[in-house]
Amino acid sequence: MGHDMQTLLKLLGDGRFHSGEELGAALQVSRSAVWKRLQNLEREYGVVVQSVRGRGYRLAEPLIPIDPQQVQAPWPIEVQFSVDSTNAEVMRRLDAGASTPFAVVAERQTAGRGRRGRAWVSPFGANLYCTLGISVRGGPKELEGLSLVVGLAVVRAIQSLGIGGVGLKWPNDILLDGRKLAGILLELTGDPADLCSVAIGIGINVNMRAADAIDQPWTSLRASSGMVVDRNLLLSALSRELERHLARHRAQGFAASQAEWESFHLWQGREVCLSTASKQIVGRALGIDEQGALRLEVDGVESRFSGGELSLRLSDDS
Ligand code: BTN
Repeated sequence: MGHDMQTLLKLLGDGRFHSGEELGAALQVSRSAVWKRLQNLEREYGVVVQSVRGRGYRLAEPLIPIDPQQVQAPWPIEVQFSVDSTNAEVMRRLDAGASTPFAVVAERQTAGRGRRGRAWVSPFGANLYCTLGISVRGGPKELEGLSLVVGLAVVRAIQSLGIGGVGLKWPNDILLDGRKLAGILLELTGDPADLCSVAIGIGINVNMRAADAIDQPWTSLRASSGMVVDRNLLLSALSRELERHLARHRAQGFAASQAEWESFHLWQGREVCLSTASKQIVGRALGIDEQGALRLEVDGVESRFSGGELSLRLSDDS
């Protein structure tokens, strides 16, 4: 069934009409079997299929499926049609002893995870949902600033497609036009002091046009640039940039990426408000240190803040 669905999507991906006869011939099934599969695609996966008498079927939105053969990556990538969460899937495989590095990508997630217990909205075929599993042998030093480096790789990958204006919000939000474009969620298994594995989860809003369930200002590459982006190209670029930045981080630590990261920091020098679980701190963002911690000037004194449990907002953000 999964393979049939993939074949169907490939044919329909061009956004043009295809007759039931043509689709049936490609799948080697009857026209009514085609109709059933298309219904399933709508019901199960939320893909909107239009059907017009005498012309056939077409997708309401263009959709280029992720095709492993079109993706260049320095590690094996498995593409799943549907999964609870690519992070959860990679964690399961790491715990089962999978050899690293490897990546899992999905066309949709039914329980996509965001930071701080939030959900990550993951409609079918619209965006990129990707998790890379790696092993870390260098101890805490090799984990320091890791998520920031991943953010940098995401920015570089998007830039390499010719899309500008993408920046970072400490610690690892990727923004475009002041709205959230992409997010990163790292999950760890093993002993961080010794040998551990990390699931590096990356969600990029690519072609998504509407979503009710997102509780913060968001955008997608398509919403901001007006272009439909081929996720295969983006995934290749992302894999390349990840490898480059992770290798540098492994060899030289976060310090080697500090200046480059700061050059994309959108709120450098701005008045900001940092909310932790217990309090809110208002100050001026001076930058980050060589460990990736946020440097804040509060009442003329510099303080540093680390950890993923913090959020940063413009203090004049109303
Ligand atoms: C955030 O809240 O900013 C982090 C979002 C991370 C979402 C990605 S999508 C792929 C991977 N799988 C998940 O369940 N979450 C991450």
